[in-house]
Amino acid sequence: MRSAKDFFAPLAVGAPTPVREIPARPSRAIHFFDPSNEKMAAKIPAMVGTVDVLLGNLEDAVKADNKVAAREGLVRIAQATDFGPTQLWTRINSLDSPWVLDDLTTLVPAIGEKLDVIMVPKVQGAEDIHYIDRLLAQLEAKAGITKPILIHAILETARGVANVEEICGASPRMQGLSLGPADLAADRKMKTTRVGGGHPGYLVRQDPPRAADGTNDINAARTTYQQDLWHYTIAKMVDACAMHGIYPYYGPFGDIADVVACEDQFRNAFLLGCVGTWSLHPKQIEIANRVFSPSVEDIKHARRVVAAMGDGTGAVMLDGKMEDDASLKQCLVLVALAEQLAA
Ligand code: GLV
Ligand code: MG
Repeated sequence: MRSAKDFFAPLAVGAPTPVREIPARPSRAIHFFDPSNEKMAAKIPAMVGTVDVLLGNLEDAVKADNKVAAREGLVRIAQATDFGPTQLWTRINSLDSPWVLDDLTTLVPAIGEKLDVIMVPKVQGAEDIHYIDRLLAQLEAKAGITKPILIHAILETARGVANVEEICGASPRMQGLSLGPADLAADRKMKTTRVGGGHPGYLVRQDPPRAADGTNDINAARTTYQQDLWHYTIAKMVDACAMHGIYPYYGPFGDIADVVACEDQFRNAFLLGCVGTWSLHPKQIEIANRVFSPSVEDIKHARRVVAAMGDGTGAVMLDGKMEDDASLKQCLVLVALAEQLAA
């Protein structure tokens, strides 16, 4: 059986396979823009350096009539802009659409040297990644592109979630995965109408108190706790990504005005292991940059534990709490992230 590495074989005989390293510095905010929207596109050069990733979106949210304009707009912006420390990504159309082949055959020769990552929507299984991987290899070889473009898959179908581990391991180009809560909700036939975030109906109610006659007083006031609709999928995605050494991301949070709930949702994802998220509006960039960076207090505490643990083995007491080899490893994750973000 062919392994994922075989799919990455260079086409040019004798040429070494250059590998574009997954950047050690994880991207906290992937800021989406519509390249067919001239007003939005004009703001892009000024955003360079303010956000880790600028992503020219060609898929959903771009009208069918504007697909060509979006593709051409992205080429124009990419050719005219020096992205400096900011990565340039695109989200291509899905593999079952009439536009995806033209997306790839236009973008790779025109701006392949500048494109860091291609986000592929509605990925169902390893076969989708193999197809994109093979096509990219051919287009890169033809255009003489020296650094392979990386692939990021959106997890937004039930089948994709079921196949998440094989998707992560399908190609050395795999950079990461994002949750696509809107499409995933539809595909799963969830009864929601939102883009990401929680739902007031998805809750757990405190047990009823006992009435004087020993029965349950179901009419008494009781606290309810809203649950996170996305916990299971994010946890599953994080495990698959960690297993394959690629990055997990939250996805879109559609209620732009509700910055408080947005921050909560992003923080849950950060605590569960995600490295970043999407930004659909400039105000979400600030939230993502803050939430997906370890706090000053967390870094201070982590460094204290590292110092107290000496050679890294055994157990010590700090502020009445036991720290050991395993809590040290968690602290090292935070310290390493802080250092990568500061670099
Ligand atoms: C994103 O593409 C989503 O469907 O949530
Ligand atoms: Mg989607």
